[in-house]
This record gives sequence, structure tokens and C-alpha cells, in this order.
Amino acid sequence: MNIQTYLDQQRQRVDRFLEQIVPQASAQPQRLYESMRYSLLGGGKRIRPILTIAAAQALGYEDDAMLPFAASLEFVHTYSLIHDDLPAMDNDDYRRGRLTNHKVFGDGMAILAGDGLLTMAFELCSRSDGAGEFSAAQQLDIVRELSHGSGHQGMVGGQVMDIQAENQGIDLDHLQKIHSFKTGRLIRAAVRIGSIIGKATPQQTQCLTDYAEDIGLAFQIADDVLDMVGTRDELGKDAGTDERRGKQTYPSFFGIEGARKLGEECVQRAIARLNTFDKQADPLRHIATYIMARRS
Ligand code: IPE
Ligand code: IPE
Ligand code: MG
Ligand code: MG
Ligand code: MG
Repeated sequence: MNIQTYLDQQRQRVDRFLEQIVPQASAQPQRLYESMRYSLLGGGKRIRPILTIAAAQALGYEDDAMLPFAASLEFVHTYSLIHDDLPAMDNDDYRRGRLTNHKVFGDGMAILAGDGLLTMAFELCSRSDGAGEFSAAQQLDIVRELSHGSGHQGMVGGQVMDIQAENQGIDLDHLQKIHSFKTGRLIRAAVRIGSIIGKATPQQTQCLTDYAEDIGLAFQIADDVLDMVGTRDELGKDAGTDERRGKQTYPSFFGIEGARKLGEECVQRAIARLNTFDKQADPLRHIATYIMARRS
């Protein structure tokens, strides 16, 4: 299979669905919807929803009824980016190839657009129009996964550790913990939500969870490497920001090549976790490789 074609097709599938469900900019409160749409629909690789789709596909599930759950991850992720960019956090001016949300809409509206996206993610997971396809118990499990991945034991907890670690001498264990919370947990939720959709056995869920933890770490290692070697044109966001802000990263511990090597090891481990899966899991295998090979 060609991974680039697969990623393009699935991204378009996710994009179409996002466009269809996010409130129109002409509806009220208009400025809020403009702000939510600006960040949600303004590009992005859609890797988290694609992971949900690919995990479900690995288990033989392919129906569009899974899209609200896959999309919920992009809603949470986009909210996390809007807040991550705020002056009180990373204070960044560019995201997804354009000005950050607060630069266009102001801090207050950016905070509220993030809140609106976060809340709507849970609305999507609790929709009843997929009933028949999914049991109430499955939907409840999905809501729980999304909460864990996003909240105090997930992305939010990691972001707290991340800002507290700025300009502090932290050790590698602590850095790995920050990465696994701020980035890994939402990626883990994406894959585990796919495994709920595809009705994985406990053993399959364990393999997929292990896979997700490995690629989650690789994903943030790659992000940190790209921050050092990429350009704003390639990344759609400013490069060199971690060092400026006193953030320790894998490349600051191991150098760029050393960090790349560790990321590659995570990828190989992740692929090995899928040994008991057949070729339906090929997209997951290729996504693992893509995570370290990507240029943006
Ligand atoms: C960037 O995420 C923030 C991290 C958690 C590393 P992505 O690299 O997935 O950003 P988009 O969604 O493609 O813009
Ligand atoms: C991302 O970490 C963590 C989030 C939960 C958004 P970064 O702060 O490194 O992400 P970028 O580099 O701004 O996309
Ligand atoms: Mg940050
Ligand atoms: Mg940031
Ligand atoms: Mg970064």
C-alpha cells in the first residue's frame, strides 16, 4: 500500500466530515463559530482521527458511522493547539500555516473557541444517530477514553508538567513522562477508541495500546526534532521555539541524530506490537514509520 495515498484519502474523508458538522460561521454566536472554524478547518494532518480509523480497520471495521468518534479527537486536539499557542503558554504566532487563533480573534475568543471545541467533542461521542451501529456501553467507553486522554491524566496533565519544566533542569524520566502525557495519551485514546469501535478482544486491545504508547512517544520526539531542523514554511508554525522557551527535549538530551534514532526504535517496537494482526493492520504499521519520516 502507498501510505501517502492512504493518508491523503483518509484526511479528505475526515475533512469532509468536519466541514459538515462544525456550526456554520453565519450562525450565532457568529464570532465564536468563525474562531472555531478558523482553527479546526485550517489544515492539519488529522493523524489522530486517522489513527482511530486505522485501528478500527485493523479489526475489520470500515463504516462511516465511526467518523463522529474519530472527529472528536480532532476537536480536542485543535482546542489543545489553540490553548498551547496562547501568550500565557507557548506564545506562538503561527499555526497550520497562518496566524494563531488569538492573533486573529484575541485571547478571550481563542480561549472560548477552545472551550467550544472541547465540549463539542463530547457531544459528538454521545450522539444518538449512530445507535444501532454502536451500543450505549460502547459510546460510554469511548467517552471515558476521550476524557482520560484529554484531561488531568492525559494532555492537560502533560501540559501542566510541560510549563512547569520550562527553564528547569529535568531528567530524562521526567521528560519522557511529560511527552507521554501531553502528546502520548491523546494518541493512545485515538487508537483505543478505534479498538472499541472494532470490538477488539482484550488481547487485541493490549497490543493496540502498546503500539499507541510507542508511536505517541515517537510523535513528540519527531515534533521536537522538527522544531530544530524544520522551517516555518515546512511546519506551518515557527521553528526553534523550544530552545528559546527553555524547553528540554529529546534532541537537547541526545542531539538530533540521537533523538531520531530513539524515535526510530519506538517505531520498530510499535510495529512489532502488531505481529498477531493480519494485513488489515498495514495502515497502522505504515503510520508508525511515517511518524518519524514526516517533514511537517
Ligand atoms: C502538534 O500536533 C502538536 C503535538 C502534539 C506535537 P500535530 O503535528 O498533529 O499538528 P497538526 O494537527 O498536524 O497541525
Ligand atoms: C504540544 O507540544 C502539546 C499539546 C498538547 C498541544 P508543543 O507545544 O511542542 O506543540 P507545538 O510544537 O506547539 O505544535
Ligand atoms: Mg507546548
Ligand atoms: Mg507549542
Ligand atoms: Mg513542538
